[in-house]
Amino acid sequence: MTSKSLKEFNTFGVDVNAKAFIEIDSIARLKEEITKGISKPYFVLGGGSNILFTKDYEGTVLKNNVKEFTILRENKKMVHLAVGAGNDWHETVMKCVEKGWGGIENLSLIPGSVGAAPIQNIGAYGCELEQVLLAVSYINLETGEEHKIGRDDCQFGYRDSIFKNELKGKAFIYRVELKLNKEPKLNTKYGDIKAKLKDFGVKEPSIADVSRAIIEIRQSKLPDPKELGNSGSFFKNPVVSRQQFREVQASYDGEVRHFKVPDGIKIPAGWLIEQAGLKGKKYGNTGMHAKQALVLVNYGGATGTELIETAKEVQKQVFDTFGIMLEMEVNVW
Ligand code: EPU
Repeated sequence: MTSKSLKEFNTFGVDVNAKAFIEIDSIARLKEEITKGISKPYFVLGGGSNILFTKDYEGTVLKNNVKEFTILRENKKMVHLAVGAGNDWHETVMKCVEKGWGGIENLSLIPGSVGAAPIQNIGAYGCELEQVLLAVSYINLETGEEHKIGRDDCQFGYRDSIFKNELKGKAFIYRVELKLNKEPKLNTKYGDIKAKLKDFGVKEPSIADVSRAIIEIRQSKLPDPKELGNSGSFFKNPVVSRQQFREVQASYDGEVRHFKVPDGIKIPAGWLIEQAGLKGKKYGNTGMHAKQALVLVNYGGATGTELIETAKEVQKQVFDTFGIMLEMEVNVW
């Protein structure tokens, strides 16, 4: 098997090679490969929007290209959908918005594939995938067995699921089932969304209006990976205890931006990075984006190692300033 460049398959645009690359467009195809024996190590690649390669991959990349869009059940109020993991997430959102099915419009323009969505429990503007997800089907790559697990067994958390823990590296997700609403309840409580809808002059917004507002908000802050290599938020927003928050606040001159969440106090990582003076600062061909400090950017030709060095420098400086260690959201290989 010949090696293959992964440059087109990761949104950072990092040029590394994989020793072997197999495109999987059906479960039957995957089972065939498992029976033949997939040479190890291996990993499943979706849209490549949440991964940073720091070196060549000395194994097999299984590119998930399983496509499907099936209505399993439908009535006046809701639709129960099965979507193939290899579909593009945003295209899927657009399809649903066009049909008037609500529930994922706040997740418009999130890069990546449908199969990656539950791994991360993607979320934005007050909506998380777990709110609409019914089940995930996957093949255990070690045994070749098919499984289907319901939402409650996915162990969803903030940007977290069973697929990042117990099933890490073992599951080939091929199908995601969603329950969408034909009488959608809109979530427009984020200030940015309200302001956009006002700009549009819309008083009674539809899900298409909300989707359009979110697309515009994201486009104004987040760089398009086709133009500037990036993977969205590079770090998670840290959640600290009340005590730790008081300490951070006491040693900071001014008000520390924060939000109360059930398990503590969330401090936006973008804010921390900006206050540490790193917003828009460049390190060679890398740096934190000038419009959203949480986004690590490849300005052209940067290697994965250079990007990770910058990420570590950011972690160090934020730690030195605030005593908070940022955790990477992106998978580093
Ligand atoms: N902020 C700054 N400076 C910055 C960036 C942000 O001060 O450079 C402040 C903002 O003013 C705001 C707060 O931080 O008060 C939060 O910013 P924003 O609403 O832009 O969202 P975020 O917390 O930085 C999270 C998600 C995004 C998601 C947005 C919108 C994470 C790690 N990121 O970002 O998700 O789109 O909320 O809901 O939770 C992604 O995961 O790739 C992603 C883009």
